[in-house]
Amino acid sequence: MRTNVGFSRRIGVSEADNACMLVLGLMSGTSADGIDVALARIGGAPPRLNAKLLAHTSSKFPPALRKEILRVAEQQPISAGELSQLNFRLGEVFANAALAACKTFRISPRKVALLGSHGQTIFHQGRAVRYFGRPTASTLQIGEPSVIAARIGITTIGDFRPGDTALGGQGAPLVPYADYLLYRDVQLGRVSLNLGGIANITVIPAGAKPSQVFAFDTGPANILIDALVSYFTRGRKRFDQNAAVAQTGRSLPALVDELMRDPYLRLAPPKSTGREYYGQAYIQKVLALGRRHRAYPADLIRVATIFTALSVADALHRFVLPKTKIRQLVVSGGGAKNPLLMAQLAAALGGIEILPSASFGIPEEAKEAFAFALMAYETFHQRPSNVPSATGARGRAILGKICYAPPL
Ligand SMILES: Nc1ncnc2c1ncn2[C@@H]1O[C@H](COP(=O)(O)OP(=O)(O)O)[C@@H](O)[C@H]1O
Ligand SMILES: [Mg+2]
Repeated sequence: MRTNVGFSRRIGVSEADNACMLVLGLMSGTSADGIDVALARIGGAPPRLNAKLLAHTSSKFPPALRKEILRVAEQQPISAGELSQLNFRLGEVFANAALAACKTFRISPRKVALLGSHGQTIFHQGRAVRYFGRPTASTLQIGEPSVIAARIGITTIGDFRPGDTALGGQGAPLVPYADYLLYRDVQLGRVSLNLGGIANITVIPAGAKPSQVFAFDTGPANILIDALVSYFTRGRKRFDQNAAVAQTGRSLPALVDELMRDPYLRLAPPKSTGREYYGQAYIQKVLALGRRHRAYPADLIRVATIFTALSVADALHRFVLPKTKIRQLVVSGGGAKNPLLMAQLAAALGGIEILPSASFGIPEEAKEAFAFALMAYETFHQRPSNVPSATGARGRAILGKICYAPPL
């Protein structure tokens, strides 16, 4: 990828400091399905930032830890002591994922200059709500970056979101920085769609300046489908592989219509969401609706898949297409592998070409991890990487906290 965009201002970093470096990016999203690891070679500085994805892989969470992550992300009680322990233990899990990835990539960690770790979100309140008498927004990602830096000897940057939230932003989405660098086109308006647990879009009008980019979470992506599959199989299955179950169900349009009345879909951007809204309480409501419509499990999983696609299309029709000409939709995230989801999306977005992010050199499962490698590189060079028009922040922020590798 070679970019030619004046995205950010350099702050006191000499040209030599922008020499190529190998950077690892670690990502675990709302699905908590595993840790995606990307290795990128990055050099230069905007307007001539040079970044190439060299390799990517992923590793699983130990099952008991995954259960605990999901429990905590559902806002179930946890003591301060247990939270502290979970933070450090996850730091170790992330460090192990990075080490395993280096082995797979056949590269010594000593050759890697920097690592960016998103961490595991366990709470996200992007929009301020009243707390002890004052409007307060906050976001919390855990997986202690100091532990990662110490275990693998690579300077690690974590905690990317709070810097944006502290400036009044939602702290999300952050991927628009990478989306802009990857997908901006002088002539084509593009939307980047990531189908993780939650679906988010970045809108990049033709020839856009950074300030013309906007982005938001459209609603659920895999979170609803995954929860239903896990519920109906009593945890034996985690997701509907290749839509095998949904393909056998009935569509039940009336039930889809009821789901489309979700007030989140009408909320104007900037907006972001997560398990706090699309969590167990929401799933219980969907299950109750399913019972009322006499839906079989496969019907409900099909309905959830259709609803997910329609909620993304609705966001585009409601908030994007009336004011921006869009020719292409570039899709990444695990949901890109769900054929029913993709077919429904294509049907609802006639006239827009749908492309996998792989056609831009970044495989669907590696996009977000790559983005955090890129943001770590920018932070290391003291450059901002939030996109205020996407998050709603008052200004630009140099994101994250740097945990230096121990001296040799
Ligand atoms: N072959 C597939 N068929 C259907 N769904 C898939 C497939 N592969 C991945 N997924 C979905 O993608 C999800 C993971 O996507 P990911 O982008 O990692 O999300 P997150 O960022 O929330 O971790 C899985 O939980 C699953 O629902
Ligand atoms: Mg994932």
